[in-house]
Amino acid sequence: MASPAAGGVVIIGSGLIGRSWAMLFASGGFKVKLYDIEQQQITNALESIRKEMKSLEQSGSLKGSLGAEQQLSLISGCGNLAEAVEGAMHIQECVPENLELKKKIFAQLDRIVDDQVILSSSSSCLLPSKLFTGLAHVKQCIVAHPVNPPYYVPLVELVPHPETAPATMDRTYALMKKIRQTPVRVLKEVDGFVLNRLQYAIISEAWRLVEEGIVSPNDLDLVMSDGLGMRYAFIGPLETMHLNAEGMVSYCDRYSEGMKRVLKTFGPVPEFSGATVEKVNQDMCMKVPDDPEHLAARRHWRDDCLMQLSKLKHQMQPQ
Ligand code: NAI
Repeated sequence: MASPAAGGVVIIGSGLIGRSWAMLFASGGFKVKLYDIEQQQITNALESIRKEMKSLEQSGSLKGSLGAEQQLSLISGCGNLAEAVEGAMHIQECVPENLELKKKIFAQLDRIVDDQVILSSSSSCLLPSKLFTGLAHVKQCIVAHPVNPPYYVPLVELVPHPETAPATMDRTYALMKKIRQTPVRVLKEVDGFVLNRLQYAIISEAWRLVEEGIVSPNDLDLVMSDGLGMRYAFIGPLETMHLNAEGMVSYCDRYSEGMKRVLKTFGPVPEFSGATVEKVNQDMCMKVPDDPEHLAARRHWRDDCLMQLSKLKHQMQPQ
């Protein structure tokens, strides 16, 4: 729980990700101000957060030790940026993924913030050196990249600018822990950060296997959801190696030649176009038609699954 004296959090951009952050910070007892360029978005965000928190409370899935009403009382809207950031300890930017727009917001913030507040971007893939270079408060800047839906998927990648102060990384890490997210420190910025580099490696080999006629799109997805993914929900690829032999050294002794042989057969980066798109799309649309209703229903089901999985993971934590 946040101490009552602690400064609050400001969310800039009250869309999908801004709303999730607001709920997470409130679950940790922090005061949250929601800012947006569109007043209507703030109103919509406050309404949808109220609905969501009530429904989470009813299903026993609300995070934190406070009730929904108490958490809701911590969140307010503010249509004036300077007023919103006054006395804040953490600002989480959640505007659309557009470099020029984000740079404009950080330049605006740079002119009005003090030397204490953390300036954090939710960017999925814009490099900190592109976002923050030249700002007077660059030492206080960091990317904190969440994973959708952040309320159920706790990972947050923390990516520093080369000039980000170590204290900025440490404070952001501690704040993420306080709201029960799982921060990881990306030690040096790299295109795609870590999560998307891993995701793209998987997508890329999945695409090649389908393109070469080795497996159908549906069966490919099953290899992940009913195979690798079962383990990966609990242990990562490196621990998998460690457990699949008598430790890591034994795994490398036993399997490195085989891994290298297979890895050398991987093809080039796919084009993600043409006949393979048609083929994959056909299979995907048979399972989930791509109209808004079917897509929304399937996302809802996915989020329910993730909510249950996150409860299970919590129960299964090693003592
Ligand atoms: P969104 O489009 O749902 O929301 C963006 C909000 O920003 C809107 O409410 C819009 O009115 C507001 N906005 C636009 N210009 C503004 C300005 N100048 N000042 C204040 N507010 C402004 O976008 P979403 O999906 O929430 O994404 C936000 C950020 O989070 C992006 O950088 C995105 O890459 C990142 N992200 C998104 C994920 C996703 O799955 N949607 C996952 C992880 C990160």
